[in-house]
Amino acid sequence: MRAIAYSEFGGPEVLRVVEVPVPEPTGDEVRVAVRAAGVNPADWKMRSGALVFGEPRFPQFPGGEIAGFVDALGPDAHGHAIGDQVFGWARSGGYAEYALSSTLARKPEGLDWSEAVALPVAVSTAAKVLEQLALRSGETLLINGASGAVGSMAVQLALSEGVTVIGTASARNQELVRSLGAIPTTYGDGLADRVWAIAPRGVDAVFDIGHGALPAAIELRGSTDRVITIADPAAAQLGVTFASGSAGPRPIALVEQVAERVVTGEFRLPGAARTFTLDEAGLAQQEMEQGRGPGKVVLLVN
Ligand SMILES: NC(=O)c1ccc[n+]([C@@H]2O[C@H](COP(=O)([O-])OP(=O)(O)OC[C@H]3O[C@@H](n4cnc5c(N)ncnc54)[C@H](OP(=O)(O)O)[C@@H]3O)[C@@H](O)[C@H]2O)c1
Repeated sequence: MRAIAYSEFGGPEVLRVVEVPVPEPTGDEVRVAVRAAGVNPADWKMRSGALVFGEPRFPQFPGGEIAGFVDALGPDAHGHAIGDQVFGWARSGGYAEYALSSTLARKPEGLDWSEAVALPVAVSTAAKVLEQLALRSGETLLINGASGAVGSMAVQLALSEGVTVIGTASARNQELVRSLGAIPTTYGDGLADRVWAIAPRGVDAVFDIGHGALPAAIELRGSTDRVITIADPAAAQLGVTFASGSAGPRPIALVEQVAERVVTGEFRLPGAARTFTLDEAGLAQQEMEQGRGPGKVVLLVN
């Protein structure tokens, strides 16, 4: 089968199409015939060497998010049948014709592949951070970076719990943030003053998905209490919690629920997918890196 791999850190040019054996599922693994692979910021950060987990081993096979048909079952895989339409997390190597997974949700009929593959990482990361922030109905949350994949899901999940959301985005995405149900403002210099003007009593929590805003977040909160970032490397220096969306079990039931709500129109994706072929994986990662969203960057396979 065809897959994308790289054997050194570097720019998008290190990504190569390679021929490798179709993987065999063992234990509770399911083999998925991939129709769409999600491209996430972590993919280009890992490819460039900026994000390294342990001692790097090559070749590496990028891609942690997939949607497709169940193609084969490991001996202990339950809950799925050959031919089911599923989406979820790839063990690794999601940029490929086939990938293994043991964390899959059922894809609703009304959702297309590129819509489905936009949900697992975004919904799971948003939900885990909101849970850590322990928000209660009636509280006010600032989401810095509310127009992207994670931010748009965080806005909608928080609103559904009765939380008031102030969401930042670039000037071009202010209407998008408003349409998601949040009170929009721009990120960047003067953020704390803009938020004080919207919420004179301050905010109860901050979910940071950008960079450079932690000093403003601490000013707004009066401390680092209930300030969490998933993206700003300045967190450690400032004593702010850096959360990992991949820690703990995957919230498959919630991801399925959100998928159903996207079909009914109760939830929405921030924009149409920006699609590429498998051979264009480098271009796709570049598109992601340049932050030209909104809309999920997706590799359409087969
Ligand atoms: N720790 C984890 O487990 C975890 C999990 C998932 C994602 N992440 C990280 O979270 C970030 C967002 O991921 P994503 O998939 O949501 O990406 P995305 O869809 O590309 O969204 C990026 C978001 O960041 C906003 N943004 C860009 N520059 C900003 C700035 N200086 N200040 C505030 N916001 C800014 C964008 O707004 P505009 O488009 O309006 O400019 C957009 O809302 C990435 O850095 C990613 O690595 C971390």
